[in-house]
Parts: sequence; structure tokens; C-alpha cells
Amino acid sequence: MREIRDAEQKRSLKQKDKDSVRMTMDQALHENLVKDKKSDSNQALVDRLNHILANEFTLFTKTLNYHWNVTGPRFHSLHEFFEAQYRELLELMDTMAERIRILDESPVSTLREMRSDNTIIETPGKFLSADKMINDLLAGHMEIQRQIQDTLDSGNVDSGTDDFLVATLKAHQKNSWMLKSHLT
Ligand SMILES: [Fe+2]
Repeated sequence: MREIRDAEQKRSLKQKDKDSVRMTMDQALHENLVKDKKSDSNQALVDRLNHILANEFTLFTKTLNYHWNVTGPRFHSLHEFFEAQYRELLELMDTMAERIRILDESPVSTLREMRSDNTIIETPGKFLSADKMINDLLAGHMEIQRQIQDTLDSGNVDSGTDDFLVATLKAHQKNSWMLKSHLT
């Protein structure tokens, strides 16, 4: 009788071991699935941020170009205005790259990467009139605002990045207003 009871007890312990192994495996599988889902959505967000960064870099280069090459009766004021704008763009790019590092990913960091990720197009060798320069920069700021708004609307943004993107959007809106105010 005692032997039967011992055998039953052993069988029950073995089953408990099996159950606990199965539970651990299920848990690990679940955690991996959650992790995969999380890293996929993180990557999608970082891709979007890198596109914005590449466009900010292109717009920064354009603004620097126009700071150097603007001519005409408004030279002095526009030369200084474009300088203030490219300095602000440099700050915006820096905080964008740091945001991507905070998300544990790598920002586009070379000229080659910047050129393959941008949608704002440069027009080398063309010397535009002052108003065309301003309109061109304005179009760049509007394109970046559209990209930021798309990212915010994607529903795939953590709270910290959401807050950061809203601040960046406001900075581009302010720069757009200033550019518009310089149009004749
Ligand atoms: Fe300068």
C-alpha cells in the first residue's frame, strides 16, 4: 500500500516538473514575441526619425549655402537671418540624433547616409534670387513638418519621443513663419 502511495507521489512530482518547464517555455515564448514586436515598432519609428534627420541635414546645408551666396539689396539682413536659421537647424539635428541614441539605435551620421535618406532635393550650381531662396527653404521646412506630423499620427511613438517631436514641429513652424515674413 505504502509502495503504491510512493509511486503515485513520484508520478505527481514528475507531472509538476513537466508543467513548470512548459510554463517557463510558454513564458519565454511570450516574452520573445513581445520583444520582437517592440523592436519592430522601435525600428519603424527610428527609420522615420532618420528620414527627418537626413532632411534637416539637407535643409541645414541649403541654408548655409544661401547664407554664403545671397546677393542683392537685402544681403546683410538675409545673410544674418540665414545664419540664425542654420544654427537653429544644427541644434535641431543634434537633438534628433541624440533622441535616436536614447532609443538605443544609430542616427544616420555620414554624408552618404544623409543623401540616401533625404527627400528634400538640392539644386547645386544654381544661384537663386533672394525670394526664391526663401521659398525653397520654406518648402523644406514644410516637408519636415509633414514628416513629423505623419510620425506623430502613426500611433507608434513613445511619450518621450512624442514630446520631443512636438517641440521640433513647433521650432520648424516658427522658422517657417520667419521665412514667410521675409518674402517681398
Ligand atoms: Fe558666415
